Amino acid sequence: MLTITFILPDGTERSCTAMGGMSLMEVALKNSIPGIVAECNGAAACGTCHVVFADDVGSFLSPVTDHENDMLDFTAAPREPGSRLSCQIKIDDRLEGASVRVPDAS
Ligand code: FES
Repeated sequence: MLTITFILPDGTERSCTAMGGMSLMEVALKNSIPGIVAECNGAAACGTCHVVFADDVGSFLSPVTDHENDMLDFTAAPREPGSRLSCQIKIDDRLEGASVRVPDAS
């Protein structure tokens, strides 16, 4: 069990517990994180699970696939250097204590 903090567009922080093997999207949905809709349920086909990592965390995440890379160009909020689809991020111990920002899609 580890802890991940979602930072909402208004600056509110929501710390959530997560288990290894879950996707970051599943953690967000389980904790009703606003702004993470996940319309395609993790198929990397909707872009509604967009999150932004700080550079120091993003360096040890799994690489962005071509498909994820394409989809990140169609997210509601503009793509940023640390942008990822949370459905493509598998939770492991390296994410203990990590913070991830939910971009403002309004
Ligand atoms: Fe649709 Fe991640 S849930 S792209």
